[in-house]
Amino acid sequence: MPMNIAIDGPVGAGKSSIADQVARRLNILHLDTGAMYRAVALHVLRSGVNPLDEKAVAACCEHADVCVRYVDGAQRTLLGEEDVTALIRTGEVSAAASAVSSWPAVRRRMVCMQREIAKHADMLIDGRDIGTNVLPEAPVKIYLTATPEERARRRYRQQVEKGEETPYEQVLAELNARDARDMSRATDPLRQAEDAVRIDSTDMTPEQVVEAIVRRVEEHYGRKA
Ligand code: DC
Repeated sequence: MPMNIAIDGPVGAGKSSIADQVARRLNILHLDTGAMYRAVALHVLRSGVNPLDEKAVAACCEHADVCVRYVDGAQRTLLGEEDVTALIRTGEVSAAASAVSSWPAVRRRMVCMQREIAKHADMLIDGRDIGTNVLPEAPVKIYLTATPEERARRRYRQQVEKGEETPYEQVLAELNARDARDMSRATDPLRQAEDAVRIDSTDMTPEQVVEAIVRRVEEHYGRKA
């Protein structure tokens, strides 16, 4: 049985970068499942399909050849032969990913692929429904969160660093809207699994969060990770 560690949590909780660091510490791969929904969203946008049109998205998704590869231990996300790892990080794709990920047909395909990927290697998998739905048997589950204000502050600071200045109030409003969508959708909404360890990172440094997760893995697997 491969080592599977599930990390779920809301937008801006720092899942991706924490997951990267933990995976490096444990010398295992990190599967960012959000990137897969983003790749579907890019395909939908390129096909001229409205991400809010469930039927059209379901049909279009059947032709989205999403796949994940690892190069030097880092995830590359592909659409067919094209590496779209960088292209899926725009605001337009984020908004479309939030919409397409709410459709059951899209989720069915992605969940199936994610289970298949997780079967074959020791992995840390991050997303919204990993501990509750994709890998309910995962022996270590983390629910990583922080207050909406702190998550919005972190996101705001990242945007300033990139030279994009959206007012903090707008960042907070958008984050609250995404939380509401992720938590209220009918299929696989974001929620904490009953057996997940909750880590509230509001007053923690990234190093402390990484340490807390590595400790939890060590406790379970009984070895120095
Ligand atoms: O983590 P992210 O922001 O890159 O995710 C992009 C979108 O995909 C986001 O709106 C939530 C959704 N998502 C999901 O519904 N289930 C997952 N396992 C991962 C992401």
